[in-house]
Amino acid sequence: MRVFTTTREIQQYLADLRNKGLSTGFVATMGALHQGHLSLIQQAKKDNDLVICSIFVNPTQFNDPADLEKYPRPIAHDTQMLEQAGCDILFNPEVSEMYADNEHWHLALGEIEHLLEGTFRPGHYQGVTQVVYKLFNILKPDTAYFGQKDYQQIMVIAKMVELLNLPVKLVMCPILREEDGLAMSSRNIHLTAEDRLHSLILSKTLNWVKDNFDSNNIAVLQAKAAEAINTEDGVSLEYFELVDGDTLHPANQSTKKVVALVAARVGKTRLIDNVLIG
Ligand code: PAJ
Repeated sequence: MRVFTTTREIQQYLADLRNKGLSTGFVATMGALHQGHLSLIQQAKKDNDLVICSIFVNPTQFNDPADLEKYPRPIAHDTQMLEQAGCDILFNPEVSEMYADNEHWHLALGEIEHLLEGTFRPGHYQGVTQVVYKLFNILKPDTAYFGQKDYQQIMVIAKMVELLNLPVKLVMCPILREEDGLAMSSRNIHLTAEDRLHSLILSKTLNWVKDNFDSNNIAVLQAKAAEAINTEDGVSLEYFELVDGDTLHPANQSTKKVVALVAARVGKTRLIDNVLIG
C-alpha cells in the first residue's frame, strides 16, 4: 500500500493512474478502523481497479472539543489493517495540509442539515461537507463509499454532490454489527463494560420497531421505543424518530421507505444507529 501525507504527491500519483484508465473507489474515514470500515473497503475493491482510503480526524466537524481531543488515533494499527484488507492507497494528511488558517466554508444544504443530528450537533454537517468536498477534489474518485450507519451524513453528501455537480458516484453500504447487535463504531472503545451492556437497548429497540411496524401506529411505536431506551440504566435518549428515508420528515402510515433513527448517550459516549423498514 502506498501512503501519502501531502496533497501534491498523492495528486501526482493518482493523475498517472487515471491516465492509464484505472478506476478508483474511495473510502473516507477518521481512522480507529473496525470491520465496518473494512466492509466499505471490500465493496470498493469489488467495484474498482484501485481503492483509496483516507484517515483524517477532521477538526471542523467536531462541535465538542473534548470529543475531538479523545478521538482514538491508532495509526500504526490502522495502516496494518488497511494493508491486510488490500487497500492500495492511504491518504493521511495533517490538519495543516488540509486547512489554511481561518478558512471559511458554508454550503446552503437546506433543512436536511438542521434535522435530527443537526439539532444536537450544530455545524457538524458543514464540517463534514467541507472535508469531503476537499477530499473529493484532491482524490477525484470515480465512486465513493459511505456507511448507512451515518444515514443522514450520506444524504447530506448526496445533496452536496447534487448542488455542486460533483463528478462522483455515491454508494451506501450496510451497517456492520457486533454479534450481539451493537453497531460497530470507533467510539465503542470508550464504553465501559457496563455501558457496553446498556448500549444493546439501541439495536434491540430498533429491531423491535422494525418487527412491529406493520401492526402498530407510528406514534405509539415511537413513544414505546423512547420509553424503552430512556428507562435503560445509564442511557439518555437524544432522539428516536421514524422518518421518510428520502426527506427525513416524520413518516406516516403510507410512507414507503421508513427509517428508524436513534441517538443516545450511553454513559459518557454518544452513539447513533438506525434501521431501514420496508
Ligand atoms: P468515520 O466515523 O470514521 O466513518 C467512516 C465511514 O465508515 C462512514 O461512511 C461511516 O458511515 C462508515 N461506518 C462507520 N461505522 C460503520 C459500520 N458499523 N458499518 C458500516 N459502515 C460504517 O464518517 C466519518 O468517519 C466522517 O464523518 C468522514 C465521512 C470521514 C468525514 O470526516
